[in-house]
Amino acid sequence: MRGTDDASRRSTHRPGRSTARIPVYPRVPTGPLRLPSTSFAGRPRVPEDPGAAEATTTPHTLPRLVSADPALPPDAGSVPVEPVPPGPGDGDVRDDRDQDAGERERLRARAEHFSPEDEVLAAARERAAEHGIVPVGVGAAAALTFLAAAGRARAVVEIGTGAGVGTISLLRGMPREGLLTSIDTEVSHQRLTRVSCAEAGFGSGRVRMITGRALEVLPRLSDSAYDLVLVDAATVEYPLYLTEAIRLLRPGGVVVLDNVCWTGRVTDPARRDAISAALRETVRMVRTDERLAPLLLPLSDGLLCASLLG
Ligand SMILES: C[S@@+](CC[C@H](N)C(=O)[O-])C[C@H]1O[C@@H](n2cnc3c(N)ncnc32)[C@H](O)[C@@H]1O
Repeated sequence: MRGTDDASRRSTHRPGRSTARIPVYPRVPTGPLRLPSTSFAGRPRVPEDPGAAEATTTPHTLPRLVSADPALPPDAGSVPVEPVPPGPGDGDVRDDRDQDAGERERLRARAEHFSPEDEVLAAARERAAEHGIVPVGVGAAAALTFLAAAGRARAVVEIGTGAGVGTISLLRGMPREGLLTSIDTEVSHQRLTRVSCAEAGFGSGRVRMITGRALEVLPRLSDSAYDLVLVDAATVEYPLYLTEAIRLLRPGGVVVLDNVCWTGRVTDPARRDAISAALRETVRMVRTDERLAPLLLPLSDGLLCASLLG
């Protein structure tokens, strides 16, 4: 495994707090998770994900949106709205709603491509396609840059390096002294990302590549030491990545999970496969965890975000 830190860095350095040294990656055995015991009361919680299985329309709910563009994901769930006042006839009410749904779809398509990509990211996407890697979408990439910039993310973990689209997007938002730790099982993917990063003007000192299974690497990263964690690797493992990500984040830090709509399968109650089940469980965990402020961004294939309160 590459990129492990020596023992001398283990006890003193906390990424996100210092600008001079890289985050701790101690060679400690995997132990029980040390999750904060603090409870954040006062915010009402939803008991379950209505978007996971809601297929019917109620008087207070818009029907699920169906995209005219097959590349766009369907809505992650029904959209609560004010009750529609009675019109001259039922048909008029339904027409209003259809128009509203069309506007929402147009807005979503515009949001997806609001920040156009440059040639560097286009080249990284091409590299990904050549090697059968699915990178984060255009809208999701812009969101990653935004979130890294807004949070001044100095210490970032990326679970699933791929060919570097997510890596470059994150680095572009991070301050110059920031360090991104990127984990992937495939060293060949990490080599592609090195090429992509070099083309984007990011030297090797900005990214610490760790080759290995995420669930073996993550427990060795320090608690409460990271500003942002991007989850984009083995989808069936998302619930476990989320648990690890919460442990890694400092208060105010953000976890971002890509592909939570899984091209509409997550909201289809007929889908009983392991990936859909894992994603539904992940969404449920994010929505019900009182330590988190959740946000689902309808970009790309669904970008689920949560900030650690406290
Ligand atoms: C969807 S791609 C990541 C794309 C990347 N975020 C981007 O935007 O270019 C998923 C990556 O996760 C890696 N991966 C799959 N299972 C993994 C695991 N258990 N641990 C670590 N990496 C894994 C794959 O090799 C692949 O490179």
